Amino acid sequence: MKQYFNENEWLIIENAFDPDYNRVSESVMSLGNGHMGIRGNFEEKYSGDSLQGTYYAGIYYPDKTKVGWWKNGYPNFFAKVLNGINFIGIRVHINDLELDIAKCSVSDFKRVLNMQHGYLERSFIVEDKNNNITKVSCKRFLSMYDSKVAAIKYSVTPINYNGKITFSPYLDGKVVNEDSNYDEYFWNEIDKVATDNLCYLTMQTKKMDFRVTCAMKHELLKNGINIDADKNSIIIEDNYVANKVENIISMGEEIILIKYISAVTNRDFNNNELVTKAKEAVNKAKEIGFNRLISKHIEVWEQKWQENDIIIKGDEKAQQGIRFNIFHLNQTYTGKDPRLNIGPKGFTGEKYGGSTYWDTEAYCLPFYLSTAPSELAKNLLIYRYNHLEKAKENAKKLGLKGALYPMVTMNGEECHNEWEITFEEIHRNGAIAYAIYNYVNYTGDKDYLKDYGIEVLVEISRFWADRVNYNKLKDKYMILGVTGPNEYENNVNNNWYTNTIAAWTLDYAIKVIDYINENYKDIYNMISNKIGLNKKEITKWKEIIDKMYYPYIKEEGVFGQQDGYMDKEQILVKDLPEGNLPINKNWSWDRILRSCFIKQADVMQGIYMFNERYDINTIKRNFDFYEPRTVHESSLSPCIYSIIACQLGYKEKAYDLYLRTARLDLDNYNCDTDDGLHITSMAGTWMSIVHGFGGLEVKNNELFLAPFLPKAWKEYSFRVMFRSRIINVCVNDYIKITLVKGKDISVYLYNQKYYLVENNVLEI
Ligand code: BGC
Repeated sequence: MKQYFNENEWLIIENAFDPDYNRVSESVMSLGNGHMGIRGNFEEKYSGDSLQGTYYAGIYYPDKTKVGWWKNGYPNFFAKVLNGINFIGIRVHINDLELDIAKCSVSDFKRVLNMQHGYLERSFIVEDKNNNITKVSCKRFLSMYDSKVAAIKYSVTPINYNGKITFSPYLDGKVVNEDSNYDEYFWNEIDKVATDNLCYLTMQTKKMDFRVTCAMKHELLKNGINIDADKNSIIIEDNYVANKVENIISMGEEIILIKYISAVTNRDFNNNELVTKAKEAVNKAKEIGFNRLISKHIEVWEQKWQENDIIIKGDEKAQQGIRFNIFHLNQTYTGKDPRLNIGPKGFTGEKYGGSTYWDTEAYCLPFYLSTAPSELAKNLLIYRYNHLEKAKENAKKLGLKGALYPMVTMNGEECHNEWEITFEEIHRNGAIAYAIYNYVNYTGDKDYLKDYGIEVLVEISRFWADRVNYNKLKDKYMILGVTGPNEYENNVNNNWYTNTIAAWTLDYAIKVIDYINENYKDIYNMISNKIGLNKKEITKWKEIIDKMYYPYIKEEGVFGQQDGYMDKEQILVKDLPEGNLPINKNWSWDRILRSCFIKQADVMQGIYMFNERYDINTIKRNFDFYEPRTVHESSLSPCIYSIIACQLGYKEKAYDLYLRTARLDLDNYNCDTDDGLHITSMAGTWMSIVHGFGGLEVKNNELFLAPFLPKAWKEYSFRVMFRSRIINVCVNDYIKITLVKGKDISVYLYNQKYYLVENNVLEI
């Protein structure tokens, strides 16, 4: 781990260029706007090490699966987020020598991500092999106002020479995925045009017929005044179009190229409309001009921060860390399109295929529920509703009834191909049911249950009812051969968390069925006919709930991780000799599986989700037993433990755990930020502050808070949206709660009820 970026409340600053660290910086400096995303790559040529990445939301490729030993039920493909047309490129020649900072001496290098306003800036001075010294600076953004649009301002100033500066802005479809299983090239060229004042390129994926059209235009300024190029030409190659713009300028003069870009896909438009739409968008962008375009973009960011900033006083590193997380979450998912979801790496890399995991429901949903209008979180749920038929097919493929949602997916089909996860990590189904409960509980939108939720809950319940097996001797239902959230144990029997969430789902589904039956008889009859609900199956579900088996470790008074957990040698993480951690890098897989070490919150995940069921002593015993055995080798782990630690009053422990993810990517804590950011765990860090330190919960339609101030901070405040209101909570030696917007509402502070009136501050 190293602290490479400078501390600053709103900026991420890289003050000198370290080529060995470039991939990490590129991940950190990624930009996105929900529709597309780019890594922090350079515009000009860079021959050093780099992971070039341009991603378009929802555009994926079903790459042929690669496995050692094929098992029945494996998916044929792994859907990959596709690296698509690179639109940021601008080749720069200085007196015909191509600018490439890997081949020059570079000084005053600065790359700055502005999180407040959502843009990336870079500046440096280079001396090339002809001893020409040149000052370069650039600024770019992907518009949050019009997500089809991006713009780049690229400025060059000769310091010690008069000469020719050539810009060649381009659109490049010759792009590959580093993680392609068989080194295949995934794209076909469909259409391209290059003229002096407009270029466009349409590429099509070799499978699925996804199409992306990018268009670009440019504008030139010398010393701030618009000029025409001395010489214009075009370059057309396979899968590639470019302009070439040459100008003779004198020492000290600044020449700027502004590149306007638009990108549209056939997810949003018909194939025959793509070029027209791309042209329209890029024409409009150029007409509006860089300054007004960026102002509109900044307005959207300002609005976002108004709604969901967290302010921490007295700890600049913490401030930077949490804003970094909120920034990337807001860039990744804007919630306008229920066909989209949140990949663990968002738009910042190829790893994990950019697909949807249970991370969305278990970790991201709480963030979006509290930081945006409820439609946004609802769209995350509808994504799964729309995949219900595929989830039913998936269960059928495994010989089971009901619906089994995939562990990893793009379009509803399972992509994962490791048996212990694909077939066994079935707890993910529970998280999808739980998300429905969480959404309705938070928003109060009970209509969701009759409109969508019930079908999903019934089909997931049918799956559980079929997947359990009855143990006659014990007169109990069991779930055998599973992998819990702790992926460091496979094929275990009765993972406590899985059994708990399975029985909970059955119970919740019955409650929802009863609710709809009582309140919307006609709708109930309609749905019941559609999905063939019958009393017999509900009776069976009740029996399963009553007779579900839960492992328990009597000697310790704690829930059992799984049946065989205590057969393992019990060692604590703190007693491991130095050099063993992380065990996933230092131990054989076999040794990990036989050990008692837990990868991530598992029993504690259940205690977090069903917290109200357990008394504080039970929670404490389980925390005290499991935390010392947890290696937190998933970035999703510490936040859950941190929240429970807050509940137990373990304030320092809570803060230590929070720190493990707060700057995970900024400080490259796990040495893996080079291939992308941990977007889904960023939501976990937000949860540690708002649900953990802030103690936020919603119970019976009311908001509860129980904040404490970590020692290292002077003050912190967070904003949440709750039932069409914005509420600000500021925690210092005192607590101030302000209803920033919306109708009067009551809240509970440390279980005491208070009334909030718009713009009045409640101070305790
Ligand atoms: C975790 C899973 C998670 C996945 C994607 C794995 O390391 O164990 O729980 O879904 O990463 O974030």
